[in-house]
Parts: sequence; C-alpha cells; structure tokens
Amino acid sequence: MSEAQAIRTDEAQEVDFVELDTMIDKEFSTDKENLIMILQAIQRHYNYLPKPALTYLSAKIGVPCSKIYEVATFYSTFSLAPRGRNIISICLGTACHVRGAERVRERLHDALNIADGQTTEDRRYTLESVRCIGCCSLGPVLKVNEDMYGRIATDEVEKVLGHYE
Ligand code: FES
Repeated sequence: MSEAQAIRTDEAQEVDFVELDTMIDKEFSTDKENLIMILQAIQRHYNYLPKPALTYLSAKIGVPCSKIYEVATFYSTFSLAPRGRNIISICLGTACHVRGAERVRERLHDALNIADGQTTEDRRYTLESVRCIGCCSLGPVLKVNEDMYGRIATDEVEKVLGHYE
C-alpha cells in the first residue's frame, strides 16, 4: 500500500506572476473574449487553476472573480484543486460496472490510499471515477492520462500504476 496521503484540496501553489503575465501577454491579448483559452493555458501550466492566478487574471483582464469562477466551475475539465501529474480515471458506467469496475476502483483506493477526487500527497496521482469513456466493449476500462487499459483485472492495477512512477 502506498504511503501517500490525500492532500488538502485548498493547498495553494505558489504562482510566478511574472511568468503568468508573460504567458498571457505572449499567447493572448487581454481581451475578455479569451477568458476560456487563458484558463486552459493556466490549467495546462499548473495542472489546475490556482486561486492566486485567478485573482491576478481578474485584475489583468478586468473580469470579476465571480465571473471567472462561474466559468471555471461550469466546465468539468477545469479543476480548482491541485491535481496529480497522472490523472487516473476508472469508468463506472453500466457496461464497466457489470464487469467488475467497482472491484478495480476499490483496488485503486487501496493502492493509492486516496478516495475518488483526491490527489496523492506527492502529487503523482489523482483518482477520478467517470461514467463511460466510450469503449464499453472493453470494460472494465481504466484510463491513465491518455492511455487506455481495457478488460483490466484487479490484480493488474499495481502493474499499471508502476508505469507512471
Ligand atoms: S461504460 Fe465504461 S466505457 Fe462505457
């Protein structure tokens, strides 16, 4: 079992405002219309949307924080909590569920010592459950970043995780 513990989701990551400023100026204008693209760039850079970065962005492009949070919470691809370098998604859709996805999820919980939606303390892994990834015939399906693992057995979980250490 991993010694990693779930991290606090309100943990703030230090933001380099000069770097953030350069990124926004270089890739985007301060046009409010670019808000979603700027948020995508911030998420790509930090792997989530740090609060200090959103506060800075609000002042820089003149969009209220409330509006930025409204957008950031509307799209499921954005995360306001720190995420791991590897995003592990276990499918709990019907087809995967009937083929044992719940047992795979329990094995992931045990192996990583975190629950759904949590990130290991070393920020190596974030665990999420999803509803159908679109390849039901391969269930149960586990996805790590962009890699798909079909017909995954519970005793294969540690081996898969080992590819991302
Ligand atoms: S139900 Fe799991 S991929 Fe569709």
